[in-house]
Amino acid sequence: MRSATILIATANQGKLGEVMAILAGLPVHLTTLEDYPDLPVPVEDAETFEGNAKRKALHYAALTGCWTLADDSGLEVDALGGEPGVHSARYAGPGCDAAANNAKLIRELSDISPGQRMARFRCVIALAGPEEVLATASGALHGVIVDQARGTGGFGYDPHFLVPEYGMTTAEMLPEQKNRISHRGRALQAVRPAIERLLAGSSVAGLND
Ligand code: IMP
Repeated sequence: MRSATILIATANQGKLGEVMAILAGLPVHLTTLEDYPDLPVPVEDAETFEGNAKRKALHYAALTGCWTLADDSGLEVDALGGEPGVHSARYAGPGCDAAANNAKLIRELSDISPGQRMARFRCVIALAGPEEVLATASGALHGVIVDQARGTGGFGYDPHFLVPEYGMTTAEMLPEQKNRISHRGRALQAVRPAIERLLAGSSVAGLND
């Protein structure tokens, strides 16, 4: 098996920890955007998570020459036609925070009954070399949106995202528990075999849930 450097296209320490745990044992050297502080950021205006993840991975791979792993994620709510989707980070407007996004989400769902609040967190991960996307993988975590915020962990929409099998919102879970079942954890688990195949020198296909 060859060894390689993989750039993890994030400055978020939490995400980095998850990636390192899931790629542990592979003969890879991981670098992060903190090692490349002067790189321009990509424009993330694709209409799909996959489009944004591929764009981000190709952008950094072309600039650094390294294989690059990038993700895009967000919340899809059935009763809102899949919104906020790729607009999750800025649902309530440019520069808004998680509290404003959550307030808008609950407002938009005010006429929707508890039985019709199905939602999912979705994550797509892309691995690219400088000239092409080498693999993609996706993961989802299904839940329902609750009006009352619960829990202090996590970030973003977690306090309003209840996972019925666990009877907890993702903000009430311990980080290890959330990581084990999360959309990002699942997408990372799904992309690991593609990285193993690449290191072994064979070709790679897209992997989706
Ligand atoms: P990004 O892919 O990290 O840029 O995430 C986009 C947005 O989706 C975040 O700003 C959050 O609003 C939302 N999001 C993604 N993953 C999660 C999660 O695990 N919990 C809560 N919100 C999330």
